[in-house]
Amino acid sequence: MSETPLNKPNSDYIKTDESMLPSDNLKSQQIEDAHQKAPSNNGSKNNLPSNTAQNVNTPQKPLPVQLPAQQSMQQPIQQNEPSTFNPLKPPVVIFRNVTKIFNPGTAQEYCAIKNISFEIEDIPDVGEFIALVGPSGCGKSTVLNLIQGFQEIGPPTTGEVLVRNKPVTGPGKDRGMIFQKYSSFPHMTVFENVVFGLKINNDTNRFSPSQMREMAMNIIKKVGLDGHQNKYPCQLSGGQQQRVAIARTLVLKPRIILMDEPFSALDEPTRIEMQELITNLWQEVEATVFIVTHSLAEAVYLGDRIFIFTPGPGRLKKIIPIKPDDIGKQRGLSPLDVQECPKFKAFLKETTAEFLKDDRIN
Ligand SMILES: Nc1ncnc2c1ncn2[C@@H]1O[C@H](COP(=O)(O)OP(=O)(O)O)[C@@H](O)[C@H]1O
Ligand SMILES: [Mg+2]
Repeated sequence: MSETPLNKPNSDYIKTDESMLPSDNLKSQQIEDAHQKAPSNNGSKNNLPSNTAQNVNTPQKPLPVQLPAQQSMQQPIQQNEPSTFNPLKPPVVIFRNVTKIFNPGTAQEYCAIKNISFEIEDIPDVGEFIALVGPSGCGKSTVLNLIQGFQEIGPPTTGEVLVRNKPVTGPGKDRGMIFQKYSSFPHMTVFENVVFGLKINNDTNRFSPSQMREMAMNIIKKVGLDGHQNKYPCQLSGGQQQRVAIARTLVLKPRIILMDEPFSALDEPTRIEMQELITNLWQEVEATVFIVTHSLAEAVYLGDRIFIFTPGPGRLKKIIPIKPDDIGKQRGLSPLDVQECPKFKAFLKETTAEFLKDDRIN
């Protein structure tokens, strides 16, 4: 039941023509090419994690020379070198030796993350899905919050967080965050929640009211909530409430989507449904996605790269690149089908071993 009239087809945001979507393999190739061209992220994605995981111990000094495209996992990932990939399109996100100390100079001083460096290239027409995993308290949320630019977190204590080569000084329309807790306004319907962000960001009157209604309904349909647009959040299941949160974020067309344990509160079948939804939506959105998850299976299923963090203080310990073929991911297969196949299980086992390996960084 659509109570909001829709006279036109979809907005320009979500491409509905299947032929326009990058296939998984094409996407994977583009990501691989980008990493090979970009010295700071290089690493083969052809092998299982034991052969591909990259040590990311931050070197004390920047490495002086470009690394070869196919880098051994034993070599530290190169830090601090400017990208050579596409000078016209700066990297989406750069962390350069980022340390965050909370409450410095007080009895509560705490170093949440130390010396974290990574770079996310802008791969033409393809976003990348970065899955952040690590024990509780190792700084995963802090990393996301620094990218988002939350005022209460403030800037890094030392180092730089750059989004498209500009230091993050606060939240921006180019970034959207989805939390574990359902974050919709309880006194607004689904439709009102989704259209709200559009209205407050429509300062230049770029969109007419009917265009905004159309964009909101298009996204509501995309996340599978058609017919629920006039319900209030309390009238929805947990999975549906997270769909509203996803719709509220996507309607603003952010180029970077930050998801902090978005599915942790959901039961397993709903979680699997959400993985499918996210995979399908993300292929169309072509944004860069950072997702924090406690589930290694979820990280392996969703991620193009897994960032493994280690605590005390939080450090980036390993980066594991994943190609769809490594885990038997193919179009038409459900997340459950993929996660039950031997290739996926073998990859998950290797990733779990990397996760548990005690190679603490001093
Ligand atoms: N605003 C803050 N003030 C003080 N300490 C904080 C703040 N935010 C996070 N921390 C601390 O920093 C560490 C990392 O937190 P967080 O990034 O939330 O870890 P994770 O998301 O990996 O569980 C934790 O020990 C946490 O208590
Ligand atoms: Mg957290």
